[in-house]
Order: sequence, then structure tokens, then C-alpha cells
Amino acid sequence: MSEREQILRHTEAYVREQMRGEGTGHDWWHVHRVRGMALRLARDESADPYVVELAALLHDVADHKFHGGDETAGPRAAREWLARVDADAATIEHVADIIARLSFKGAGVPTPMSTPEGAVVQDADRLDAIGAIGIARAFAYGGSRGRPLHDPDDAPEMHDSFERYKSGGGPTINHFHEKLLLLRDRMNTAAARRIADSRHRYMQEFLAQFDREWNAADSFSD
Ligand code: ADP
Ligand code: NI
Repeated sequence: MSEREQILRHTEAYVREQMRGEGTGHDWWHVHRVRGMALRLARDESADPYVVELAALLHDVADHKFHGGDETAGPRAAREWLARVDADAATIEHVADIIARLSFKGAGVPTPMSTPEGAVVQDADRLDAIGAIGIARAFAYGGSRGRPLHDPDDAPEMHDSFERYKSGGGPTINHFHEKLLLLRDRMNTAAARRIADSRHRYMQEFLAQFDREWNAADSFSD
């Protein structure tokens, strides 16, 4: 096994251990999906698969949302781990930079990725937040925070959405309007835009059906 393969194997084992039992949609399988998607996108973009795989594997270790809002925890954890397994300095810098840009979030805050490796990891992470899996993750996350599914008295149009997103705490349906429906237009690569388009339409259909059921409007033809 090459040295790089060994580093990848070790990293995967480390991340699996770190993320075991995570119940907010940030579990190992999220990382697994992001890695698979990022590596597929990487082929079209001639991105270095080694950096892509490491960044995808490490991208949610020490996520700032679970570290008191500390935005530097993620890149720092990645850096420490990669130094421990003797990754080369250029790889460590590149992976830490990708993770720093990934974890810097918020509607209206652009997070430009300066390399193709960063672009595909960011696209893969965003793609996992939309479509059927994105819907499942949003409700899992909302549930973990004790949030209602939906509240017509606390609907997105009643709030400044960016402030609402920052403060969090709203019903999960609001999260679609605050973030998930905005992701399609934020993709970096052409392939991700195509995939996002179909996942986006699926979410719109879900929201329309949710609304029909909420109002019992699917029960009667009038
Ligand atoms: P990642 O770290 O994978 O980029 P996030 O940390 O932003 O994604 O969020 C993880 C998952 O939880 C995503 O699917 C996201 O949509 C969901 N999520 C984050 N914030 C909220 C929220 N306020 N309400 C519902 N779902 C949320
Ligand atoms: Ni993620």
C-alpha cells in the first residue's frame, strides 16, 4: 500500500470513530456520501483526488456549530490529524484551507473556493443538504434541537430571513427558505448544478405537497 493510501485508510478510521452515533445528520454516512460525490465531481474538474478525499473525510470533524461557534476548530483539528499521520505540508495547508472556507457559513456570506479541489468538496457537501436526503437531514437536525416541523404563525415571510437563519431556532420548514432553496444557485461546477437542479425541484414538490396536506387540500376536489 502506498503512503498516501495508508494516510487515507487511517483518516477514514479516525473519522468513523469521531462521528459515531452522531444524530443530527452529521454522521459518518454524510461524510461517506460527500466523499463519493466529491470524488465523482473531481474527475470532471481534474481535481487532485488525494486532497479531495482527505478534505471530504475531515470536513465535519469539529464542526463549529458543535464547538461553541469557533470557526477555527475544524481546520485546526484537520491540521493536527494530518500532521500526526505525517501528511506532506502542502497537502495539510490545502486541506485546512478548504475546511476553513467550507465552515464559514451564512446566507449572504460568499465563501469562494480558490481551487478545483475545494470547489468539488463544497459542491458535494451542499448537494447532501438538498433533495430527499437534504429533507431528511433538515428534519433530523430540527428534531435534535426540539424544533417544530412547521408553524404558520412563524413562517419565513414573517421574518428577515438572514437574521432568522443566524439566530436559528425556527421551525424546520423555514430552513428550506433560509438556506436549502438557495443552494442550487451556489454550486461551483457544471455537474453539481445539474444534480442540484433535479434535487431542487424535488424539494419544491415536497414543499407543495406538505402545504396541500397541511391544509387538507389533497383530500377533496373542489
Ligand atoms: P454541513 O456541515 O454538512 O455543510 P450544516 O452543518 O450547515 O451542513 O448542516 C447540517 C445539516 O443540518 C444540513 O442538512 C442542514 O440543512 C441541516 N441544518 C442546519 N441548520 C438547520 C436548521 N436551522 N434547521 C434545520 N436543518 C438545519
Ligand atoms: Ni458536511
